[in-house]
Amino acid sequence: MLSTIFAVLFYLATAVLAVGLVYKIRLYARTPAPLKIPTTPAPVTRPGVFARMFREVAFFESLFKSNKWTWLFGWVFHIAMLLVVLRHLRYFTEPVWFWVNWVQPFGKYAGFAMLAGLIALWGRRFVVERIRYISGPSDHLMLILLVGIAASGLMMKYVAHTDIVAVKAFALGLLRLNPQPLPADPVLLIHLGLVLVLLFVFPFSKLLHAPGVFFSPSRNQVDNAREKRHLAPWAAELDNEQQSSGVGG
Ligand code: HEM
Repeated sequence: MLSTIFAVLFYLATAVLAVGLVYKIRLYARTPAPLKIPTTPAPVTRPGVFARMFREVAFFESLFKSNKWTWLFGWVFHIAMLLVVLRHLRYFTEPVWFWVNWVQPFGKYAGFAMLAGLIALWGRRFVVERIRYISGPSDHLMLILLVGIAASGLMMKYVAHTDIVAVKAFALGLLRLNPQPLPADPVLLIHLGLVLVLLFVFPFSKLLHAPGVFFSPSRNQVDNAREKRHLAPWAAELDNEQQSSGVGG
């Protein structure tokens, strides 16, 4: 019964995540950027923009320039989470891909780094007055959710072990549309329950900054306003209409 509920919820959550993300990304892609507003100094070529975007996504460059502590905690948290998630691929692949095996030892310690980064980011929302003032409930709730996922994962790893062979059978069963039983260990159920909440809320939350960064005009525009006239598509249409009706100069 429990296994069926979790299986159904995982399918539902994946559907909500996929549809929600496609919807939001289409919305971002269609939002007009009528002005040339790259944050300067900005690249003057397309490959330059590509390199800038890469530095932003891989190293959080603009955050590094603005606040070293937030950068340190944020970067450590994100890289550690990436390692943890890659390590989890062993539950979803059979045979396990060779490079997922390589990640295992790092991923194990990354769990602690992820939790430490999250706690530091959360602490900052209480300790730094300016940040406390602008922190809303969703800022705290997202951090609590991620802390809960990391803490319950570490609990399973080091304190209250679960049957990871059975967990893998459950995960593969979901992928193969052949649901398998899930161990009824409380910490595992908390871990997976919180992951489900994360999947459900992701498309409606501030966590959308992950796909959103690619659509930020201040980062993705080429600084060529003097060489090339910038026209948003709707403005170009207006331009054409005015020219054909002889209005305007
Ligand atoms: C956003 C997604 C997830 C995050 C951030 C996350 C995080 C973590 C962390 C930090 C740990 C402790 C360190 C480690 O063993 O790697 C862990 C362990 C664990 N997680 Fe997750 N997890 C996620 C999704 C899942 C899912 C979908 C499953 C089920 C297939 C799962 C099952 C487990 C298990 C069984 C352990 C214990 C590993 C062991 O005892 O060796 N996690 N998780």
